[in-house]
Amino acid sequence: MSRGFNKSFIWLWLFTVLCGGLGGCSRAQETRIIRIGHNQSVNHPIHIALTAFQDYIHEHLAGRYVVQVYPSELLGSQTDMVQLTQTGAIDFCVASNAILETFSKDYEIFNLPYLFASQDAYHHVMDDRDITGPIFDSTEKAGFTAVTWLDAGTRNFYTLNTPIQQPSDLKGMKIRVQQSPTNIEMMRLLGGSATPMGFGDVYTALQSGIIDGAENNEMALTDNGHGDVCKFYSYDMHQMIPDILIGNRALMEDMPKEVQKIFEEGFALVNQVEREEWVKAVEQAKQRAGKEQQVQFIYPDQRPFVEACLPLHDRVLEGNPGLQPIYDAIQKYNEAYPSSENAASKSALAETKIGGRP
Ligand code: GCU
Repeated sequence: MSRGFNKSFIWLWLFTVLCGGLGGCSRAQETRIIRIGHNQSVNHPIHIALTAFQDYIHEHLAGRYVVQVYPSELLGSQTDMVQLTQTGAIDFCVASNAILETFSKDYEIFNLPYLFASQDAYHHVMDDRDITGPIFDSTEKAGFTAVTWLDAGTRNFYTLNTPIQQPSDLKGMKIRVQQSPTNIEMMRLLGGSATPMGFGDVYTALQSGIIDGAENNEMALTDNGHGDVCKFYSYDMHQMIPDILIGNRALMEDMPKEVQKIFEEGFALVNQVEREEWVKAVEQAKQRAGKEQQVQFIYPDQRPFVEACLPLHDRVLEGNPGLQPIYDAIQKYNEAYPSSENAASKSALAETKIGGRP
């Protein structure tokens, strides 16, 4: 979906909402409509989980609250949706942790490449409120807070023509990254040329050859069609970047206590359903990409990638020393859950201390 279309749609939609708000006060007093936007398709685990939330709210608060879920960037790109959530034009949206660092520097920590030693370490860290709490609340002044996290797997490079076996293969290649300074710096360290853009623009950019590749989890190959044009997917496993469900702060603060409690149960349900669906969806995506899209999966030695990226840990911590205790707490989980289930990363983990500065 083009950005031009998105922008006009948002303005038209906001105009309609405002007019409806002014003209339809009596109805609005009875039932509060909760609008949630995200950028994935209706088959994606995020949409399935938000639909479960919609049902949960209906079951417990019917007549008082109605949840409407808008998929596929219908309400704009993630950055647009975060801004709409800040002002309260919409109530919730799902944003990648990557773009949230432009709203609060504290989010940089989860964007660090090779931060987590394994998927288990990643999940335990994200489930630990002592770690995530200060980060999730760091945008309160900006008008929103994070209410739960969602699994978005592991990010890997994929390209149109050239398999990425080592960082030097990225030299001279234009690789789409998310709009985050940490990601741009990561690409610089790896030797590629970072091309930041919104998720909805990536397919066209790949198809028209404006970029040579991108980086994402396996779902991007199938659900977003990137595997129709990119035939090489390299498991360098550079990042595990969570998606974050954020909500308008005023809305949540002004809710009666008993409603707040039900919403909180609903957020926990979103997390649970999304993670269960994620495991199935990512496995199906791998199968489909290999069989139907003829994507070749490559398992490079991760060590050169890790070595190139690790200086970024020091740089981020020097720039934001307040993150040091959080970083140290993450290392404890890395020690407790050192090995990855993924065979591709095991060899690298054995010899290089991923997730910690050597
Ligand atoms: C993943 C992630 C999205 C994000 C996208 C991207 O799909 O789940 O939240 O927008 O990557 O690369 O932009």
